[in-house]
Amino acid sequence: MRLEVQGLTKAFGSFLADDSVDLVVEPGQVHAILGENGAGKSTLMNMLYGILEPTSGQILIDGEPVRLRSPGDAIAAGIGMVHQHFKLVGPFSVADNVQLGREHVKRGSLDRATARRAVLEVSEQYGLALDPDAICEELPVGVQQRVEIVKALSGKTDLLILDEPTAVLTPPEVAELLGIIRNLTASGMSVIFISHKLKEVKAIADTITVLRRGKVVAEASPDDSEAELAAAMVGRSVVLTVDRPPAQPGEVALDIKNLTVLGERGTPMLDGLDLAVRAGEIVGLAGVEGNGQTELARAVLGTVTPASGSIDMGGVAVTGRDPYRRIVAGLGYIPEDRGRDGLAADFTVAENLVLNQYRDKPLSHRGVVDAAAVRTLADKAIADFDIRTRGPGELVSALSGGNQQKVVIAREFSRPRSVLVAAQPTRGVDVGAIEFIHRRLVAERDAGTAVLLISAELDEILALSDRIAVIHNGQIVGVLAPDTPREIIGQLMAGHRPADPAPAS
Ligand SMILES: Nc1ncnc2c1ncn2[C@@H]1O[C@H](COP(=O)(O)OP(=O)(O)O)[C@@H](O)[C@H]1O
Ligand SMILES: [Mg+2]
Repeated sequence: MRLEVQGLTKAFGSFLADDSVDLVVEPGQVHAILGENGAGKSTLMNMLYGILEPTSGQILIDGEPVRLRSPGDAIAAGIGMVHQHFKLVGPFSVADNVQLGREHVKRGSLDRATARRAVLEVSEQYGLALDPDAICEELPVGVQQRVEIVKALSGKTDLLILDEPTAVLTPPEVAELLGIIRNLTASGMSVIFISHKLKEVKAIADTITVLRRGKVVAEASPDDSEAELAAAMVGRSVVLTVDRPPAQPGEVALDIKNLTVLGERGTPMLDGLDLAVRAGEIVGLAGVEGNGQTELARAVLGTVTPASGSIDMGGVAVTGRDPYRRIVAGLGYIPEDRGRDGLAADFTVAENLVLNQYRDKPLSHRGVVDAAAVRTLADKAIADFDIRTRGPGELVSALSGGNQQKVVIAREFSRPRSVLVAAQPTRGVDVGAIEFIHRRLVAERDAGTAVLLISAELDEILALSDRIAVIHNGQIVGVLAPDTPREIIGQLMAGHRPADPAPAS
């Protein structure tokens, strides 16, 4: 199959998750889509798989425009997809999972024999060993993924979409998956491989399209260096400028020493990391995602327990404290995933604005929340932060991404703080809101807060930081002056130590 995408656009409100994307996937090729979280990769794939309807643009299969109104349409057209988050039914067998939603379900009753045969055929054809009778939830993650792949291949599939297939895999499982992909394309199938990991993209791709903030920013080749790919991914086109006077840094307000955090599988996600942020400065943490940024933010908040090392805030050891006590001690925290960690979707704007302090005076008296006080605080936050809402009683889930983010920021700024962790503060927000948020972060710095800015956008890091720390494999591999050339930062991000990086003062 030759798949072509022309000017494909998906708008969520005023935010363009994908913006006029052009793409050609040739038969028998592995086409990688490389981009940071939030770049628009899954949204693009969901349009190709009939889950989302494009706002504009078209999809052509072998030169013919097609309309894919549902996954059923996509499957009929020969497209299979394995989602970022598996959709297996845990207690069901492999065979039952594979046949779910497939044509050979006979009037609602499960035709087990056919299903088992289908699994065995596909696994044999592509060398994907699987026991059709195994119970899915008892299988290792790598094997569960194989079930998803077999499920996606059990139609007449010419194009297989793998959305971040390696995110959950161990290195040996990744190697195995890459082998499977090679088998698939050897038989003439096309594969779209989504990832933000440079090494594996270079290892498997024939062609690479780099997506950033919903736009195709580069067509790259697997022969390009990791540094070049990293630079394309985090952008060099857009120059964000923020007016800011020189920083007046004071004492160290956030001091992280020798911090080690282990991942689910016991591998170090942070590996003896040292980092200090002074009052009145913004330290930008640059890095390709997945190098420990998430774990660092969570360790500072206190939702992950480090295996070793220490965290001090304002000279006080907070390493063993729970998140609420850290917040009371002066921590503001903008989480990278506002939907998951930042907002209560079923709550109103006002309720979300006071999540961090409704138990405290003046909002609560003897355990009773004072609705009028909440209302007053919410009205003020809505005005100060220019939150576009029908009012404090509106459900926060009804707001646009940019306005939801302003709710999070307004809340975190609503109580005294000496340290602010801002993780991906402008992800998925439109340009106007980006500017607003950037100005607030600089104002925060100028008010004397120690700001740790974690961003996958190198432009954002460069526009806001007084010092830039580069994280790679769970370690800080360099602390640089803000005028360091982005090529040098890119090299460090890709794990290469340049000869002589200019150190920060
Ligand atoms: N249903 C939705 N409503 C609003 N915004 C969305 C929706 N789905 C995705 N987005 C936003 O679109 C952007 C791109 O998301 P996504 O395609 O999932 O990125 P990626 O897969 O590259 O990480 C993100 O900023 C995300 O918050
Ligand atoms: Mg995605």
